[in-house]
Amino acid sequence: MTAESPTAIHALELGPMENFVYLVEDRASGRAAVVDPAWDVPAILELADEHGVRITDILLTHSHHDHINGIEGVLARHDARLHLLKDEAEFWGSHLDLPTLHHGGDRIRLGDTDIEVLHTPGHTPGSACYKVGERLITGDTLFVFGCGRCDLPGGDPEQMFVTLKDMAARLPRDTLILPGHNYAVKPASTLDEQIEGNPFLHFDDRDRFVEYRMHYHDRHRDSPYGPVCRGHEMPAGQ
Ligand SMILES: [Fe+2]
Repeated sequence: MTAESPTAIHALELGPMENFVYLVEDRASGRAAVVDPAWDVPAILELADEHGVRITDILLTHSHHDHINGIEGVLARHDARLHLLKDEAEFWGSHLDLPTLHHGGDRIRLGDTDIEVLHTPGHTPGSACYKVGERLITGDTLFVFGCGRCDLPGGDPEQMFVTLKDMAARLPRDTLILPGHNYAVKPASTLDEQIEGNPFLHFDDRDRFVEYRMHYHDRHRDSPYGPVCRGHEMPAGQ
């Protein structure tokens, strides 16, 4: 985050699953968006107060409980608009009042800050990443040296394979990845470093990726995740 950037992004690590909650601050307007409010609403509100910003928007990367259990607490204090992808709202089936539903490629304006919404299915059908300049808030799609599970309801490892391939091909290499959990040896990383060391970005064969994600990975690798050399993801023949 540079001094001339119109946007600051502050992170809080909260809850028993090491969730990262991000506060996206638009400096000029004093508006802020909280991404995936959960676990400790007072800490989130205090962070906003410290920076002298008003929470006007809530962005969801997806609808799992550990990413959303603070929504109502934030809404009790701030008249914020809730944003998520239409596909996720349908999967979730929540009755929260009048969320703003998006499609991949939409842009959300937060004062002078432009936020691009990417549709990145695989962990859930309507998982989203939010691109703020060169920074990308990735939820449970891409972790530092890992990626989200695909064995929960709505998960799809074949979709995750395509999503991660697209992200690696299309996003600038200096994109800073800000994940939804602190599961790695470092809290954030560049896409370049991930293409080099994230085993989930090493597969060219979809079926091997699916095998690795669904059956091999969790039995052979523990957090905190570190880099894996290309070709050392899993033995041949697995
Ligand atoms: Fe999740």
